[in-house]
Amino acid sequence: MKQLGVNIDHIATLRNARGEFHPDPVYAAKFVKKAGADSITIHLREDRRHIKDLDAKKICSLDNLKVNLEISTNPKIVDIALKIKPNFACIVPENRKEVTTEGGLNLKKNKFKLKKIIQKLKKNNIRSSLFINPSISDIQISKELNTDCIEIHTGHLSNLIKSNKKYKNELKKIIKCSVLAKKLGIKVHAGHGLDYKTTKVLSKINEIEEFNIGHYLIGESIFYGLSKVIKNFKKIIKK
Ligand code: PXP
Repeated sequence: MKQLGVNIDHIATLRNARGEFHPDPVYAAKFVKKAGADSITIHLREDRRHIKDLDAKKICSLDNLKVNLEISTNPKIVDIALKIKPNFACIVPENRKEVTTEGGLNLKKNKFKLKKIIQKLKKNNIRSSLFINPSISDIQISKELNTDCIEIHTGHLSNLIKSNKKYKNELKKIIKCSVLAKKLGIKVHAGHGLDYKTTKVLSKINEIEEFNIGHYLIGESIFYGLSKVIKNFKKIIKK
């Protein structure tokens, strides 16, 4: 059964717009779980633009909630992750000027650093994931790095679908990478830019076990409510 991870960073963005306490990401984490999400995702960015240290700490200490913490390779952020012990950690590239994560990790350039972080995560029983572009060579390097999972960046595919452009080649790349990763014993996740339509396209790929969805899901919730939108996504990803 495919899993749905809900990214609640945007709840923190809304809270921070007022500099007060509402809406509370900790409450959101519990609410999202009750509404049927299989896990929640938070990204503790180096600039703390949305989720703050205390949010991450409190969310990771909640019972019966699977937390996926997105982290950069910054040693200070990695140390925080090891301390607050999320269930899962997904290593993502981070660039101070970007609005959101723009692409996958440069695995070739950061091999050594990533290997060390994955080893530390494993030692602490934290499931490791690498956010990567759909590239066969990145799947091969992911195997070398001994990561538990990869999350394929679906931003490019999503943009093509949303702008009614030809997307079959990009989809084929994602399918090929998913098949190879699974064959090599790496769990396959997908995320970025997903809406109902793009999720439906990707849900047909058997190898993808988890979807991590944020911006569209939270945006739709303004109109239809979090519970309803989570249920809609769960229906779409159900095989
Ligand atoms: N997965 C990863 C690794 C991400 O960095 C993000 C964006 O924070 C997402 C999934 C969710 O993307 P979106 O907000 O576009 O659904």
